[in-house]
Amino acid sequence: MPSRIPQSFVDDLLARTDVVDVIDSRVPLKKAGSEYKACCPFHEEKTPSFTVSPNKQFYHCFGCAAHGTAIGFLMEFEHMEFVEAVEHLAARLGLQVPREGETQPAKKTEKATDILTVLDQSTAYYQRQLRDHATARSAVEYLRQRGLTGEVAAHFGMGFAPAGWDNLLREFGSSKHQCRLLLSAGLISKKSEDRYYDRFRNRIMFPIQDHRGRVVGFGGRAIGDEEPKYLNSPETPVFHKGAELYGLFRARESIRETGKAIVVEGYMDVVALSQFELHNAVATLGTATTRTQLERLFRHTDEIVFCFDGDRAGRSAAWRALETALPSLRQGRQITFLFLPQGEDPDSVIRAKGKAGFESLISSAIPLPDYMLQQLSDRSDLSRIDGRARFIELAKPLLQKVPPGAFLELLLSRIAQLARIDRDSLDRTMEKSAGSALSNKSPISKALPAMGRKSLVRLGLSLLIQKPELAGAADNLDELKDLELPGMPLLTEIAELIRHHPAVSSAAILERYRGTEHHKHLEKLAVWDHMVPAEGLDEEFAAVLLQLREKWAAQKAAQLLHKSHLSDTEKTRLRELLSQRSK
Ligand code: UTP
Ligand code: MN
Repeated sequence: MPSRIPQSFVDDLLARTDVVDVIDSRVPLKKAGSEYKACCPFHEEKTPSFTVSPNKQFYHCFGCAAHGTAIGFLMEFEHMEFVEAVEHLAARLGLQVPREGETQPAKKTEKATDILTVLDQSTAYYQRQLRDHATARSAVEYLRQRGLTGEVAAHFGMGFAPAGWDNLLREFGSSKHQCRLLLSAGLISKKSEDRYYDRFRNRIMFPIQDHRGRVVGFGGRAIGDEEPKYLNSPETPVFHKGAELYGLFRARESIRETGKAIVVEGYMDVVALSQFELHNAVATLGTATTRTQLERLFRHTDEIVFCFDGDRAGRSAAWRALETALPSLRQGRQITFLFLPQGEDPDSVIRAKGKAGFESLISSAIPLPDYMLQQLSDRSDLSRIDGRARFIELAKPLLQKVPPGAFLELLLSRIAQLARIDRDSLDRTMEKSAGSALSNKSPISKALPAMGRKSLVRLGLSLLIQKPELAGAADNLDELKDLELPGMPLLTEIAELIRHHPAVSSAAILERYRGTEHHKHLEKLAVWDHMVPAEGLDEEFAAVLLQLREKWAAQKAAQLLHKSHLSDTEKTRLRELLSQRSK
């Protein structure tokens, strides 16, 4: 767990907090049946698909799949860190946040607003240095040599961090409070107790704005050949690389006007495109494109063009982007890939070919489905039967990421064509891998089409997280512990957790897993629509357990049957197991 706040306190906090209140004060909610609704604050929409459930104490958006607890909401919506969100909720209730095994008072975390203020002041400071500092000439000269105009540099708020170790502390003062602020903002680093130094030295500064236009971090480019070429702000309470896109705030209007967003890799690419009147470009911040970034872009437009280098690294980055994008693809949304000639980037291309040249490249970009099928057929020999089978196998995991709808249908038809099988056979192969964990005679298998490839264990987990009381009614799950199925240890662990803390809420279970590999998975299951009506939950959970027990008995029996010699007790055990199976 990432924090030293006792888990019991977080449980208690969530039990006393109403997620509806927390969200309603920020995003006004309307009652709809037993839940509350609003237009989603995390993506653009006209009809509300953002749902808050007072029962489960979660929010969930059916449009963009955003979801979480009250803590998660504050982290997403207010950009708070976990600890900050807990402190915020505690303050609402007038509670002091205790720390595990800490005798001295808890370390104070800086407030987000104060961090934003110091980032804003630093932006102005760096800009002043680019104009006035005695050594700014090299920076100005560098920008000129790269072909940047003064206007475009000013438009992007670029600045200059002079050489030296203590510029910021000398500018802003070096009180304890100021040091803590600059440190939290990622602008200085700690050398030793009470000794700090500037993170950005002798660099050209690119301020990074969040979607509301506030500077949340910087990218700093070396002037010349120093390493690293770019230095970026670290993750801070207000800056999350995976959530922001460089240039988006300034590009919004143009994205709307042109109807598309161009995603490039570098700060300089965004700036150069803008200088040549293409204002709709944004850059990822030196990492692979994330789902959050994509959804953020899709709030502004339905069409995204990714620009990549034509080299191997560019191709593999494109494939990663494709995999990330598949779950976001629904009707009307379009993604295309533009591969630039080896060794070129948008900056160099637009300087060589101009705006019209670049635009004609964009119009020749490959649509995502074409790129996907082309890559898959390159990896399998479609002239052979086994090659076509391989083609289908390669496509399967990708298709499973695509939400049902017209887009998926289209992909399936084209895959059937290429593999030379009919649609029905393809659908059957897809289903077989989807539902293999379920036996056909089970009552649950009726729900199969809706469940897609969710397995029995996932169904059980999901039921349990959504209604923890189920564990109380169920028999002890201990013996299922050694049932060899993926997810089984987690299911028994959570059942045990609930038995030890019968009042634990769904949200509290999730928070216990924050920071672990299971958290994302559990969050999804917590909001997954398992299609089981409320009044049938107990029965369904019992049915899941029954089937898990059958599987367990079958596994045990198989183990005994594989033995060459059985003792008498083992023989009795085997008979019991076999009879349990047939029950
Ligand atoms: P590039 O190396 O393609 O940089 O990295 P660029 O934008 O073309 O830079 P110039 O033209 O040489 O100035 C693309 C992006 O990867 C991240 C930055 O976000 C950069 O814009 N990056 C690159 C880093 O974070 N650190 C590095 O050392 C290099
Ligand atoms: Mn470049």
